[in-house]
Amino acid sequence: MVSFSPWRILLLSASAAAIANITDDSYFYGQSPPVYPSPPMPGSSSWAAAHAKAVALVSQMTLEEKANITVGYSPLTGCSGETGSVPRLNWPGLCLSDAGNGLRATDFVNGWPSGIHVGASWDKNLAYQRALHMGGEFKTKGVHVALGPVVAPLGRVAEGGRNWEGISNDPYLCGSLAGETVRGIQEAGVTTSVKHYIGYEQETNRNPAGDVASVSANIDDKTLHELYLWPFADALHAGAGCIMCSYNRVNNSYSCQNSKLLNGILKTELGFEGFVVSDWGGQHTGLASAEAGLDVAMPSSSFWGSTGQNLLQAVNNGSLVESRVTDMATRIVASWYQMGQDSGFPAGGVGMPSAFYKPHTPVYARDPSSKEFLVDGALEGHVLVKNINNALPLQKPKLLSVFGYDAPAPPEMNVGGPNDLLGGTWFYGYESELDYLPFLEGLPGTPQIAANGTIISGGGSGANAPAYISAPFDAIKEQAYEDGTSLYWDFLNVAPTVDTSTDACLVFINAFASEGDDRAGLHDDYSDALIKNVAASCPNTIVTIHNAGIRLVDQWIENPNITAVIFAHLPGQDSGRALVQLLYGQQSFSGKLPYTVAKNESDYTNGGKPSLAEAPYTYFPQSDFSEGLYIDYKYFDQKNITPRYEFGFGLTYTTFSYSDLEINKLDGVSTAPTPPPSPVIPGGIASLWDVVAQVTATVTNTGNVTCAEIAQLYVGIPGGPVKQLRGFSKIGVPAGGNVTFEFDLMRRDLSTWDTCSQGWVLQGGSYNIWVGASSRNLPLEGTLTL
Ligand SMILES: *[C@@H]1O[C@H](CO)[C@@H](O)[C@H](O)[C@H]1NC(C)=O
Ligand SMILES: *[C@@H]1O[C@H](CO)[C@@H](O)[C@H](O)[C@H]1NC(C)=O
Ligand SMILES: *[C@@H]1O[C@H](CO)[C@@H](O)[C@H](O)[C@H]1NC(C)=O
Ligand SMILES: *[C@@H]1O[C@H](CO)[C@@H](O)[C@H](O)[C@H]1NC(C)=O
Ligand SMILES: *[C@@H]1O[C@H](CO)[C@@H](O)[C@H](O)[C@H]1NC(C)=O
Ligand SMILES: *[C@@H]1O[C@H](CO)[C@@H](O)[C@H](O)[C@H]1NC(C)=O
Ligand SMILES: *[C@@H]1O[C@H](CO)[C@@H](O)[C@H](O)[C@H]1NC(C)=O
Ligand SMILES: *[C@@H]1O[C@H](CO)[C@@H](O)[C@H](O)[C@H]1NC(C)=O
Ligand SMILES: *[C@@H]1O[C@H](CO)[C@@H](O)[C@H](O)[C@H]1NC(C)=O
Repeated sequence: MVSFSPWRILLLSASAAAIANITDDSYFYGQSPPVYPSPPMPGSSSWAAAHAKAVALVSQMTLEEKANITVGYSPLTGCSGETGSVPRLNWPGLCLSDAGNGLRATDFVNGWPSGIHVGASWDKNLAYQRALHMGGEFKTKGVHVALGPVVAPLGRVAEGGRNWEGISNDPYLCGSLAGETVRGIQEAGVTTSVKHYIGYEQETNRNPAGDVASVSANIDDKTLHELYLWPFADALHAGAGCIMCSYNRVNNSYSCQNSKLLNGILKTELGFEGFVVSDWGGQHTGLASAEAGLDVAMPSSSFWGSTGQNLLQAVNNGSLVESRVTDMATRIVASWYQMGQDSGFPAGGVGMPSAFYKPHTPVYARDPSSKEFLVDGALEGHVLVKNINNALPLQKPKLLSVFGYDAPAPPEMNVGGPNDLLGGTWFYGYESELDYLPFLEGLPGTPQIAANGTIISGGGSGANAPAYISAPFDAIKEQAYEDGTSLYWDFLNVAPTVDTSTDACLVFINAFASEGDDRAGLHDDYSDALIKNVAASCPNTIVTIHNAGIRLVDQWIENPNITAVIFAHLPGQDSGRALVQLLYGQQSFSGKLPYTVAKNESDYTNGGKPSLAEAPYTYFPQSDFSEGLYIDYKYFDQKNITPRYEFGFGLTYTTFSYSDLEINKLDGVSTAPTPPPSPVIPGGIASLWDVVAQVTATVTNTGNVTCAEIAQLYVGIPGGPVKQLRGFSKIGVPAGGNVTFEFDLMRRDLSTWDTCSQGWVLQGGSYNIWVGASSRNLPLEGTLTL
């Protein structure tokens, strides 16, 4: 179904050795169609007031002032970036800061669960509450723009180094929770910069290096709309005020100067009202990026000039229309009004010095009401995938053995907090993989783990600054004190001695990932050996994995001595506290996998690996997304591959049964090829959000523990993948009781992108509907006829 132009086929059919490397990118011209001019901010109803105020303020600005606010200035604070300001009109400029999992590089903030953990919770309200409280911290510190959430990478490449910053590789799950995140952060008064637009699916070759350009994500129109663009549409519909364009190229044109993506899809089709900011250093041209729709260049701009003076000159010499610069300024200022930042907003970056040792008045951003959401957030993202012989919950064990490098807190010298500093920024020990090299050199294989203590987030700009870390071993010690349990521990040896009278052996491992590199694999020999060694002499071995992305378990999962396995993801600072509540049954597990765990790497698209720069594309690395929509569970369904643990799977301490499926089409739904006449609102045509059908099902808790179930609805859209997630809901069901789950299906949920008409089409016909507990456990089946 996906076809790329014949030049690729011609080249690849010849012998690669005989072909000279392509050294001129004019070869690729025409792959991404030109879309000009850049559309001005629409100012549609939800943004009309902010638009009017922005127009009024910007009309008082000189061209020099307008150009000045489009470029980044070296921050005087700890902000990741600061735009220019307009002192004459008292417009303060914007402070933009990392990132989506907590405010980075400062003190008195919380370390929140990471994106993947939010995805594993499948909890919309929790995603919203996390965002609202986290957003409040950004506001207290005078940060106008939070650089998150992440919806790209989506997780096409299983080894992707930043997948953990995102929510799920299913666009529906990702989009729903990203929308809640945008709503929460922005209701706190902070603009979200939804990133990274678009096709940013690997770290390998993400940036140009020497003569080698960034990787080009070659994505056909249908795949772009139905998969990679989908969560961006949700974020825009939720009101996102900023979009960050990505480092990679799309169809051989850099994302931050791709007019089809910015002017065409984002600013016209999706009716985007806010501004586009470049990822740091992602701008590669001056006029071309301005005309293609880039509005702000960060962290500074050699192309537009340090004060935007080149934009000024380009207008003055007739190369650029002034209205484009006016529109840039209008979009920037409108976002500021839209979030209410014009009144009562703290000074930009207040209490965030450029380096923590510099004198600063402390600004306490940790709101006590955040506590419950930090703990709930940590609890709900744990996914229990194996539990035999009633291994869990633990019942006041007499002796508990604890093994593995991931159990204790990282050594103090490594941890974020007032004593930690590297290169003038706050430093959490896991920001850089390099910090593990001294230790990992002694280990077989490439570093894939953070071997010096538990991880609560991945590394790089998505890392956060925890106020403290509750490590698993810290919390286990507290519980042991309560229960009169004896503990035995060994965190260093790969083949630790096991006391044969132990009740259980808890083994803690991790899978680390950090911005800048893709992961070297999906399982590592050191951790697998550790688990196998413990299990060889411990018949009740319970494995907990803090995984920054997919982690395979097939080296040991069938060993009957391994009685329980938990994907603990990246829980944030209350990690151990939450885990102990789950291990001891004070809370039930309630998370489910937001991705598929395969039996082997080779089961994933491209073996889970990033695309490499290969001749003849040595200088212009190409990544063809030729699998189309078929990533993760859609790919496993298509290829009939049995996963180890399917998308949407997770155990609890109870059991559920499903019954009473009802499917109702709403009256008056038209299946005309194009939706009825309808305005474009942020996210696309308004009617795409109309509810066209409703589905209900009853879930009964057949066990004896009250806990939440995540019921999932999948649809088989004619002509599409076997099934696609199009509804989910997480509700507590009392032991022995039942709850009716309701799902609304919107026009967009059932539509497909039609490349000819360049619009969404709701086909007439028969749609399979399934409701159940995971993508492969769907007891209820029915049909919707449109
Ligand atoms: C293409 O470039 C690669 C890497 O620089 C080099 O190894 C290879 O020999 C080149 N191929 C040709 C035909 O020049
Ligand atoms: C990229 O190229 C494909 C194949 O020609 C096309 O379907 C798609 O619309 C293009 N997308 C962009 C953003 O240029
Ligand atoms: C441009 O912004 C900088 C940094 O905020 C500010 O110092 C400068 O005065 C601004 N220039 C103009 C012309 O307003
Ligand atoms: C106009 O100014 C821009 C920005 O300095 C410059 O790149 C461009 O070459 C100039 N064009 C002409 C025709 O002078
Ligand atoms: C990690 O732990 C090992 C072993 O305890 C130690 O040798 C190494 O210095 C530590 N690495 C860092 C960066 O602290
Ligand atoms: C399970 O543990 C027992 C010790 O209790 C050991 O004898 C046995 O070999 C182990 N089995 C496996 C498959 O490791
Ligand atoms: C996948 O298969 C390869 C080749 O047999 C093997 O080396 C690798 O360890 C397997 N992966 C897992 C997770 O077992
Ligand atoms: C609850 O159910 C579990 C598993 O079915 C069972 O082992 C346990 O005895 C039950 N507990 C009570 C209090 O009924
Ligand atoms: C759900 O519970 C109610 C009582 O609360 C009961 O009348 C009804 O039959 C139950 N439904 C199912 C499907 O078990």
